[in-house]
Amino acid sequence: MAVATTIMHEEQPRVVLSARGLSKGFGAFMAVKNVDLDIEHARVHALIGPNGAGKTTVFNLLTKFLQPTAGSIALLGTDITKLAPDKVARMGLVRSFQISAVFPHLSVLDNVRVALQRPNGLSTQFWLPVSSLDRLNERGDQLIETVGLKRERNMLAADLSYGRKRVLEIATTLALDPKVLLLDEPMAGMGQEDIGAVSNIIREVAKTRAVLMVEHNLSVVADICHQVTVLQRGEILAEGDYATIAQDERVRLAYMGTEEA
Ligand SMILES: Nc1ncnc2c1ncn2[C@@H]1O[C@H](COP(=O)(O)OP(=O)(O)OP(=O)(O)O)[C@@H](O)[C@H]1O
Ligand SMILES: [Mg+2]
Repeated sequence: MAVATTIMHEEQPRVVLSARGLSKGFGAFMAVKNVDLDIEHARVHALIGPNGAGKTTVFNLLTKFLQPTAGSIALLGTDITKLAPDKVARMGLVRSFQISAVFPHLSVLDNVRVALQRPNGLSTQFWLPVSSLDRLNERGDQLIETVGLKRERNMLAADLSYGRKRVLEIATTLALDPKVLLLDEPMAGMGQEDIGAVSNIIREVAKTRAVLMVEHNLSVVADICHQVTVLQRGEILAEGDYATIAQDERVRLAYMGTEEA
């Protein structure tokens, strides 16, 4: 007798990270007002807007570095509004680190290995001797290959160019195998060549996870982002793909007289 079969493979929910009514006041000043966001699996989502629009504040709210004044945040359907950053990092919501999190006196490979044995995204302490990390070589080399740091594998992090250091930083973030990767201006201070390399890495890693990036460089946004949210004075001004928001008269006005114009 034929039995109806249900395919039981695990389906990745479309919306990985969502925010509803997110608001943040600093004293009487509301830096973020009633923001709704849906960050989807296998998509690159950009958060853009003029200086002071509230992008970094939204980024810090989503990664739990700031507590919202009002609103809620859900990660894979779980309410994370009240959770601490290290807890949400263990649940798969990982932000890029600052360069200071890269150990300058370690090689590229050792930096990646240290990241691979880190229990979560926030522990900067490492208590295993580097020699005991040998078993992580294989995964380390895979990651190094993914981000294109093969030639620099045995170089000290301190000897890398600024752009290559940022790439290493992304590799250490990927070591945590995030479900959502949040990047605050990943291209800041980079030359054109590194921007191209990091764009390719982000495109590649977003095939299997959600990426949210705050980005000032609009040609990068046009190039790699599927969805764009425009903030202005703490509120969402427009949302859509780049072509849609680029044609929006309100977005053009918001950018007039700013460095992006
Ligand atoms: N800790 C704070 N205390 C008081 N005001 C703050 C604080 N953090 C941010 N703000 C204010 O909130 C507003 C939004 O700041 P935010 O840094 O989020 O903007 P942004 O969009 O990231 O800007 P930029 O493009 O310059 O990075 C600004 O007016 C800023 O001065
Ligand atoms: Mg900012």
